[in-house]
Amino acid sequence: MKADYTNNRGALVALLREKLREERFTHSLGVEQTALALAEKYGASREKAGLAGLLHDIAKQMDAPALAEKYGILSPSEKTLHGPVGAAWLLEHDIVKDDEVLLAIKYHTTGRADMTLLEKIIYLADYIEPSRDFAEVAQMREYAFSDINKALLYGLKLSMVDIVERGSLVDIDSVEAYNCYRRMFEGGEV
Ligand SMILES: [Fe+2]
Ligand SMILES: [Fe+2]
Repeated sequence: MKADYTNNRGALVALLREKLREERFTHSLGVEQTALALAEKYGASREKAGLAGLLHDIAKQMDAPALAEKYGILSPSEKTLHGPVGAAWLLEHDIVKDDEVLLAIKYHTTGRADMTLLEKIIYLADYIEPSRDFAEVAQMREYAFSDINKALLYGLKLSMVDIVERGSLVDIDSVEAYNCYRRMFEGGEV
C-alpha cells in the first residue's frame, strides 16, 4: 500500500478498522481531523498531518513489547512503546516512508526536545481531538489554536504529573521535551 494520504485514505481507514477496536478507531479519525485543522492554522502539510494523525495509534493493539524487541526499541515504559513500534511497523510494511510522518508517529506520546511543527501537531491533536474529555481539555484546545508551544508545554506538564502520580516510569524523551518547552515559558503562566 502506498503512503499517499489523499488517494489512499479509504484503504488506510480500512487498515485501521482491522487493527483497532472501535473506540481507538474513532479516536484516530478525531486525531486526523484535528491534525488537519492545526496544519491549516500553522501552515503545515495537510497530507502529512492527515496521514500521521490517522495512523499514529496503529500499533496500539499490537504486541508492542514483542515488536519492540524485534525492532530494537527501548523504553522504560510499556505505555509509550506503541509510538516507536507503530512507526517501525509502518516502515517495515511499506505503508509510510516519509521520515517526518514517521517521527511524528514515533514521538506522539512522549514528545521530545525541539519538536518539528508536524510532531507538535500530532502530539496536540492526540490530546485534544473531539472525543477527549478531561478537566483541562478546553484550556488546551484554546492554547492549541493560539500558541502551539504554550499548548505543548501545557500538555507535557499534564502528562508528566499524570505519569508520576500513577507511579509509572518517565521516558527520557518526555523529560527532555518538558525541559525544552519549560525553558521557553520560564516563569510564565503555564
Ligand atoms: Fe498513542
Ligand atoms: Fe492516540
